[in-house]
Amino acid sequence: MAEKSAQLILGDKTLDLPILSGSVGPDVLDIAKLSAAGIFTYDPGFGSTASCESKITFIDGDNGILLHRGYPIEQLADHSDYMETCYLLLRGELPNAKQKEEFVSTVRAHTMVNEQLRQFFQGFRRDAHPMAVMCGVVGALSAFYHDSLSISDERHREIAAFRLLSKIPTLAAMCYKYSIGQPFMQPNNALSYSENFLHMMFATPCEPYKVSPVLAQAMDKIFILHADHEQNASTSTVRLAGSTGANPFACIAAGIAALWGPAHGGANEAVLRMLNEIGSVANVHKFVDRAKDKNDPFRLMGFGHRVYKNFDPRAKVMRQTCHDVLQELGINDPQLELAMKLEEIALSDPYFIEKKLYPNVDFYSGIILKAIGIPTTMFTVIFALARTVGWIAHWNEMISGSYRIGRPRQLYTGHTSRDYVAMDKR
Ligand code: CMC
Repeated sequence: MAEKSAQLILGDKTLDLPILSGSVGPDVLDIAKLSAAGIFTYDPGFGSTASCESKITFIDGDNGILLHRGYPIEQLADHSDYMETCYLLLRGELPNAKQKEEFVSTVRAHTMVNEQLRQFFQGFRRDAHPMAVMCGVVGALSAFYHDSLSISDERHREIAAFRLLSKIPTLAAMCYKYSIGQPFMQPNNALSYSENFLHMMFATPCEPYKVSPVLAQAMDKIFILHADHEQNASTSTVRLAGSTGANPFACIAAGIAALWGPAHGGANEAVLRMLNEIGSVANVHKFVDRAKDKNDPFRLMGFGHRVYKNFDPRAKVMRQTCHDVLQELGINDPQLELAMKLEEIALSDPYFIEKKLYPNVDFYSGIILKAIGIPTTMFTVIFALARTVGWIAHWNEMISGSYRIGRPRQLYTGHTSRDYVAMDKR
């Protein structure tokens, strides 16, 4: 029984709606019983709707706070690493040394993919977008791992989680290698998660390749900053797909598809395309004016966020990392200069101030990824790689608790019932 409630007056009826309180964040009005009273709620884009109860990630958009299992993202980015953050998201607590070692070694043990899956790639055109290939090959995992598809079995769920976490970098790197016609590189399990990914991306069988520690560290930070983000579009997609009882590999493939869009994970790729289009600092004002023009569909990519209305804490860390990486690599990137000018102009423009549009995580990540040598089309694939752990954590939280199939209602504004009209009468 909720302690607080709200009254809704509907004609001559008064409904008592419970108000639920979380550990932190706004209270939530429980409207689950509303449909029995013959009324639905209407919230396109779900801006006011809590779709589930969760203990994984908390965001306070007004104050620029992002917590994973209670830990601020800035602290995780500074002191943790991606594997530890994965453990935290999946298991709820930071691991001790032994737990971490066991976790990392289990992830390492599953990095290879089935040889037949490697052949699966041959069916794709070489010029396909790597995200198109990712949707296909990750979905295909369910055809290879029948032994871990029983979602009601906790051990199966755990095996599937490890398989996904371990194989996603291998598959992502294979997407890249396939697109440039180079042989796939086998994982090297002597390397860390981030080093191994860079090795599979950039090593070739014909010459030695040494992973740069600076780049591996930057990669690891990008992975941490993208690991989870509460009930965003792709995570909600994973939960919705999972609520039907679909297997985890299929659910993650659904998440990858949802992430691909330029309003979501595709924004990092769109930022670089936009910077290319702007071309030089001299053109910045022109593009800012276009972004403000209601009759022009152009938006400043990498700006704005559904939830953050102050600043994106991930963007703050990413901005610093961006400067550090470019400085350490001695790269003088004119695109970074352009990005900084754009940021400066947009942040002082009344339109962006009024609408609380700040640079988001994707504004800077593209510049770092470019410095690492990652081609633009792979940016969203890397986001998907890093976000896989968040998707799994949310899917597992839902499946191991009580849930119903997700089935939103609608406000129908189409035709009312009418009789079929024969072809000769139309
Ligand atoms: N440039 C110019 N105007 C903008 C922008 C932008 N990037 N973003 C929002 N606006 C305006 C928008 O036109 C609207 O104006 P008005 O009230 O006059 O109609 C107002 O700001 C509110 O925008 P909205 O589209 O209703 O806001 P939303 O919460 O539905 O959308 C968003 C959030 C992230 C999709 C949007 O800000 C956007 O399209 N940004 C660019 C794409 C981007 O960078 N996406 C990455 C998000 S961070 C990574 C992730 O989590 O996936």
